[in-house]
Amino acid sequence: MATATHTAPEKTFSRKTPARNATVLVGAQFGDEGKGKLVDMLSEKFDLVVRYQGGANAGHTISFGDTTVVLHLIPSGIFHKNCVCVIGNGVVIDPEALMTEIETVQNLGFSVEGRLFISHNAHLIMPYHKLIDAASEESHGEKKIGTTGRGIGPSYVDKFARTGIRIVDLLNRDVLARKLRENLAEKNNVLTKIYAKEELDVERIVSHYTEFDKRIDGYVKNTQVYLNDELRNGKTVLLEGAQGSLLDVDHGTYPFVTSSNPTSGGACTGSGIAPNHIGNVIGVCKAYTTRVGNGAFPTELLDATGERLRTEGQEFGATTGRPRRCGWLDLVAMKYSVAINGITELAITKLDILDTFEEIQICTAYKANGKALKDFPTDHETLEQLTPHYKTFAGWRTSNAAARTFEDLHPNTKAYLNFIEDFLQVPVSFISVGPKRDETVFK
Ligand code: GDP
Ligand code: IMO
Ligand code: MG
Repeated sequence: MATATHTAPEKTFSRKTPARNATVLVGAQFGDEGKGKLVDMLSEKFDLVVRYQGGANAGHTISFGDTTVVLHLIPSGIFHKNCVCVIGNGVVIDPEALMTEIETVQNLGFSVEGRLFISHNAHLIMPYHKLIDAASEESHGEKKIGTTGRGIGPSYVDKFARTGIRIVDLLNRDVLARKLRENLAEKNNVLTKIYAKEELDVERIVSHYTEFDKRIDGYVKNTQVYLNDELRNGKTVLLEGAQGSLLDVDHGTYPFVTSSNPTSGGACTGSGIAPNHIGNVIGVCKAYTTRVGNGAFPTELLDATGERLRTEGQEFGATTGRPRRCGWLDLVAMKYSVAINGITELAITKLDILDTFEEIQICTAYKANGKALKDFPTDHETLEQLTPHYKTFAGWRTSNAAARTFEDLHPNTKAYLNFIEDFLQVPVSFISVGPKRDETVFK
């Protein structure tokens, strides 16, 4: 029997394979790794910087000259005049907080006109989200998550329940008023009947938020289309993660997590940039570990050494001022973080905080119920019962503040960093030895 043959006509497509011009920068631990410093430093080399998840729960500290500023919503590239900043669709935006932050940036002498854009698809944080966040935490007592109280969880709940209000709704007063009235009818029920709180004044909120259209209009863009166009035009994009990988709602220490995906996969859904644009994933990792809020922390030090890390590292929350819990570097957790993010290079931060320590420890394995665990467990109960196994390193007991190349570092510092690289099988490209832009060693 003759076999039918079919030859597809040759086609050429004008659409080219995309250049991998996008880099994702993620917090590799529990947040506060120094992402703000790194993004600010790196954004000199990027055309655009994009936030893709979280909201004003983030506190990203940037230090240059005599200025130290904490950003919560605006991407950390804003202090480089040629860098365009985008708040992506995956972010939840408190319009009040955003307006205050825009003013802060302007007061520092940096214009945001034409260089700050907000996705029309980003969801809003309304006053009821913050009230429900606080009331829910209060009702959980001892078992509370220890949220930042910024309304993050409740806003993402509405997003996924498909009742959320988005930036685009701020631009249409009638639609906004209708959606607010519908939402407030339900939220007032929740606040009064479940949490025994005061009812909110619907019309006062409607009239306050319908005023935002004029203030926000100039910043709103279809950022998914814009970012893809810019990438096709050869522009480079840095995607700035907030929080940390172990706080990821899917991959973190659930339920003690945030309500978004800080890991690198979240960068695609939270910006509209497809995975085949991503060339590099930078994991930011503190030279030790900190965590704010509740939840498992295998290497936490509840002794004088933990207190010393907190004091030396000034480990107090940039958003809430809460003392951060402190402990040694956990390479079992980091190995997991490297895997789920596809980390291609590491930035080790706050190395200077270890300068005075006689001995430094690194966790290289866990034991649970007498059994060795190879991988980072993701259930809360196992995580709470782990015993970390440590490798001890001799401290360097000197300052590396003037170091700018790897060779400038003390031999004990090099040994510490080489061990991290070898264990994780990922190169350390940046070593931060102080909060300022130039206090960085490039490897
Ligand atoms: P982020 O949320 O990841 O951006 O980190 P935070 O800003 O919440 O916390 C990091 C803190 O450490 C900030 O106060 C930074 O100014 C500071 N910092 C960043 N890198 C270094 C460093 O290498 N050494 C020191 N001493 N401080 C640093
Ligand atoms: P940056 O971007 C550290 C923590 C909170 C709490 C949990 C849930 O500065 O690294 P949420 O308010 O998000 O519902 O709180 O997540 N958390 C952070 N911890 N750094 C952050 O952001 C954080 N954002 C939220 O403390 O444990
Ligand atoms: Mg922070």
